Amino acid sequence: MKGKFVSLEGCEGSGKSTQTRLLSAYLEEQGTDFLFTREPGGSTISEDIRRIILNGQYAEKMSPECEALLYAASRIQHLKQVIIPALEAGKLVLCDRYVDSSFAYQGHARGLGMDYIEKINATAMEYQPDLTLFMDINPVQAFERKHGADKGDRIEQEGIEFHQKVYEGYKILEDRFPARFVAVDCSGTKYETQDKIRAILKERGII
Ligand code: TYD
Repeated sequence: MKGKFVSLEGCEGSGKSTQTRLLSAYLEEQGTDFLFTREPGGSTISEDIRRIILNGQYAEKMSPECEALLYAASRIQHLKQVIIPALEAGKLVLCDRYVDSSFAYQGHARGLGMDYIEKINATAMEYQPDLTLFMDINPVQAFERKHGADKGDRIEQEGIEFHQKVYEGYKILEDRFPARFVAVDCSGTKYETQDKIRAILKERGII
């Protein structure tokens, strides 16, 4: 594939959105040919699936398997309709969350196991990112920093124990995919974190 594929990962409140915004602004300034997209979503069908997954009314009713399969369905549509064509066109694709979110949230925190997630995401596993930037901050610290300003969707309604498990899940991925999975220490200011992200992208020849 001609383009490069970079995913951004992190727990709730890790500052992932802020970092993505700062990075997008920088890439625009540099005139980089890039596409910013997100999961779950990024295409009309996938955005519709997103509304079902994140609907707060389904909080207690949705089974973990249904949740994982909906994320996988949203992902495959997005991959085929948006990501692959952009990579073939030589673009840098920045994706806010990808299959690692399913490993951390559904595989580890919901307890479905990594093998199950790998199986239902078989095609996505063939298109792994060149680089995954993991916004590394413990959820307790992150929640304190955010002053509990939650948006109240179905996943964000979960307690702190759930988010700790998600964090643990990401830490497992660091060992599982050492070549592409890079943890970015987010304990400093947002500008310090952004500098670290740009340095990693430059080191790897992505920008
Ligand atoms: P979003 O509002 O986009 O959250 P964030 O800004 O934190 O990325 O909602 C996405 C939610 O979906 C988030 O809580 C993480 C969750 N998620 C999974 O549980 N599994 C997945 O595979 C993906 C892509 C997201």
